[in-house]
Amino acid sequence: MPSGRRGRVAAGTAVLAAAQQLGVDLESICGGRLTCHKCLVRVEAGDFPKHGLVSRAENLTAVAPDEAAHLAKLGCADGRLACAARVQGDVLLTVPEESRAHKQIIRKSAGERVIDVDPAIRQLYVTVEPAELGHHRGDWGRLQDALAAQWQLADLTIDLPALRRLQDALRQGDWAVTVIVWQAREVIDVRPGYHEGIFGLAVDVGSTTIAAHLCDLRTGAILATESAMNPQVAYGEDLMSRVSYAMLHKDGLAKLHTAVITTLNKLAAQAARAAGWHARDIHEAVVVGNTTMTHIFLNIDPVELGQAPFALANQGALDVKARELGLRLHPGANVHILPAEAGHVGADNVAVLLAEAPHHQEAITLLVDVGTNAEIVLGNREWLLSASSPTGPAFEGAQISAGMRAAPGAIERVRVDPASGAARFQVIGEARWSDEWAADQPPAYLAAGICGSGIIEVVAELYLAGIVGADGRFTADHPTDRLIWPDRAGAYVLATGEQTSNGRALLITQADVRAIQLAKAALYAGAKLLMNRAGVTAVERIVLAGAFGSYIDPRHAQILGLIPDCPLENVTAVGNAAGDGARIALLNRVKRLEAAEVAQRVTYVETAVDPDFQAEFVAALHFPGGRGVGESRSGGAGERRSRRRRHG
Ligand code: FES
Repeated sequence: MPSGRRGRVAAGTAVLAAAQQLGVDLESICGGRLTCHKCLVRVEAGDFPKHGLVSRAENLTAVAPDEAAHLAKLGCADGRLACAARVQGDVLLTVPEESRAHKQIIRKSAGERVIDVDPAIRQLYVTVEPAELGHHRGDWGRLQDALAAQWQLADLTIDLPALRRLQDALRQGDWAVTVIVWQAREVIDVRPGYHEGIFGLAVDVGSTTIAAHLCDLRTGAILATESAMNPQVAYGEDLMSRVSYAMLHKDGLAKLHTAVITTLNKLAAQAARAAGWHARDIHEAVVVGNTTMTHIFLNIDPVELGQAPFALANQGALDVKARELGLRLHPGANVHILPAEAGHVGADNVAVLLAEAPHHQEAITLLVDVGTNAEIVLGNREWLLSASSPTGPAFEGAQISAGMRAAPGAIERVRVDPASGAARFQVIGEARWSDEWAADQPPAYLAAGICGSGIIEVVAELYLAGIVGADGRFTADHPTDRLIWPDRAGAYVLATGEQTSNGRALLITQADVRAIQLAKAALYAGAKLLMNRAGVTAVERIVLAGAFGSYIDPRHAQILGLIPDCPLENVTAVGNAAGDGARIALLNRVKRLEAAEVAQRVTYVETAVDPDFQAEFVAALHFPGGRGVGESRSGGAGERRSRRRRHG
């Protein structure tokens, strides 16, 4: 238990061997040498009519002193080490979670998903025949023989740095070593004696933020998460400006590449330190990002991504040595980059697909990952379309007059009273709304600016209050005293001088409203283009990914027409799905095959050259909703059937 696997084994069979015979998922790093203590099981004593057997502890061989010593160290007097205990009668055994070789992780997002932990990195304890005169097989050859005999691994290669350390390790370990194997095909490390601990890094290289999760590759647990601004921002706010920087500066690519590698080395070192390890203990990294980010990460000139046909240097998944990129991880560490789709939709979107799995769903799902570029996917298990839309940095507070990143003091929630036109707001770092602040109880932070989710809310609330019209202009004759006219375009006073950290009124200008109109129109037009292409008029689910996706209020997003109409209960924010997808691919090597398959299956629509995009963009400039937001026109299942009919 709990697998329920059962069978008859010969008396005297070690429990570990019996488990392997019956396909029970039982961990053993030391291969049954009473060293790793990972094979702990519990004997269930008693009569089990359901299983048709009477189980007794004495139906296993007695606990020998060395096993007893290990069990005492583990504090599990009632347990048995499966490699030591031998079966001599009927027995019912439980394999506790920590002894299962393939642990599972739960992916909480738009629904719970269980992911098996089956990494590309394995750690194996092995004993090797000592070198002897007359035997010229070489230390590596004899290690290969031992790995074949003890772990059924054949045709292995060895990484040069590992070969350099091999002879010392074998002799220091007295011919017993711990070997790290990548993808059951390459030995990347040999350490004397028994060692535990295999670690990996799941990395999402966003154009604005780089996030790294340090994971225990045996348990799947996240040990530490570190993130930092992408220093490439200094060379350009959005993708195209970074591509131009690389084109226009002789050392442009080198600077952009070094910036991301330096940051990743810092994040890896910080995460390892936080988890009590060292960056050189990190044996593999899975890296995702959009196509411009992965080209620069690989030090490949992104110039082709700046012009049609936006050709990728490489579309498929890649495995490269971390050391070749200047990444200071384990000397033999591998870096796996997930495949891209096409154009500007890259490995980060494939990671989102792995995490959210619309290709396993019946419902027509719209997946939106908003950064300075929005990646949009529409479809279900039968078909998938994707596109990239240049939303720009407005949703992240850039190009907004009082804009700032999501940091303490940033206005993130806004409500406007339709009667008076006055606003109340919430800032990051202070739970109370601004109308609850009092002179004797000042807020932790005064308003210092407004971030992405805040700007979406204030524009939507101004529209609902009639202070901004459907065309995005301020309503000249609106009675509120919050509308001021420092110029012909006008501005709205969101926070008064007493409420701000610099003592000046915080204004939402006409240009700010325009910037949001342009960004939301680009996003909506991208989604609409895919819906037209698919012949659907409604979506059944909307999944908002990315930092932006986590904080935006779906209702306000629909009021402004950022996303198509859909019942609000079917709109979910899932946070950094790209980072989660990278983690899933890091922890489960089979998922890398799924990534390759789904990347091939997606039909990419190039918005930059699509004649309809402009028309949809212009049509989406106006603020559409407000009334009946969250209702969806009938579509969904009916549309799926008619689409199946139409597209056979
Ligand atoms: S398998 Fe290592 S102690 Fe049992």
